[in-house]
Amino acid sequence: MRHAVTRGRAAIVCEPKGAIVSTSAPPPSANDRVAASAVHATKWYGHGDTAVAALKDVSVSFDSGRFAAVMGASGSGKSTLMHCLAGLDRLTDGRIIIGGTDLSTLDDRALTLLRRDRIGFVFQAFNLVPTLTAKENIELPVALAGSKVDPAWFDEVVTMVDLRDRLAHRPSELSGGQQQRVAIARALASKPELIFADEPTGNLDSASGTTVLEFLRHAVDHMGQTIVMVTHDPAAASWADRAVFLSDGGIVGDIADPTAASVLERMQALDPRMAAGHERTRG
Ligand SMILES: Nc1ncnc2c1ncn2[C@@H]1O[C@H](COP(=O)(O)OP(=O)(O)OP(=O)(O)O)[C@@H](O)[C@H]1O
Ligand SMILES: [Mg+2]
Repeated sequence: MRHAVTRGRAAIVCEPKGAIVSTSAPPPSANDRVAASAVHATKWYGHGDTAVAALKDVSVSFDSGRFAAVMGASGSGKSTLMHCLAGLDRLTDGRIIIGGTDLSTLDDRALTLLRRDRIGFVFQAFNLVPTLTAKENIELPVALAGSKVDPAWFDEVVTMVDLRDRLAHRPSELSGGQQQRVAIARALASKPELIFADEPTGNLDSASGTTVLEFLRHAVDHMGQTIVMVTHDPAAASWADRAVFLSDGGIVGDIADPTAASVLERMQALDPRMAAGHERTRG
């Protein structure tokens, strides 16, 4: 398998130890359909003199069963693209299609249901509920939908993120890496079609970040998930199947099978500011 190779800053073997074979998840999807697309997506914030075009006529598709990284300098529109793709925000112009559904045709309630049932989120700041245990946090979105997490699936996910002995702990009793693993388990709990992760390793040290990336990679390779991850870090992007580059609200690059070196090289060519601080990842 292509990902059983050395990747990233620490040249860690990507294939997680003790391969966990999914029994209850859908089989890994063949790369034969689009999970999400933006079509001529434009997003303006504000009005008049203070208006900002955060996305300018962006057209991009993300394939099912694949792991994509979205990169770009601060303010280039990464989070805006992700929020619009995920139905957390609406475009000013253009369309977002999720698994064949045009989000512009949905009213707010239908959009909320689509987000709840078909999309998982992982944020840089974890966004766990402090008063709930890890287990309760993982189950929360499914519980809010009036449903229960399939026990076999819950087991598989918790084993995958290695949290079995932390389920009764509250977020304040967990390390940052453990909290992000709870957030990943929460995102997976409803078996979403698509997971969006906005800088999931941004608040983590390098070892915890690598673990999180290993789990995201595993979810794609062995659980049939589709992941779109925003990151600033070339080493993090090297775990993805593809890196899409944004600059000033537009797509300016798209590379397959990124490595930390190829990503850094592209960043330097596109915008030296974007590459600043990442030179250490070279090689
Ligand atoms: N709610 C908002 N109101 C006004 N302007 C906004 C809003 N959200 C984002 N912007 C502007 O849109 C542009 C794109 O912002 P966005 O958050 O998508 O960037 P980003 O690439 O995610 O940056 P970062 O790496 O810093 O997270 C920026 O110029 C930003 O200031
Ligand atoms: Mg952002």
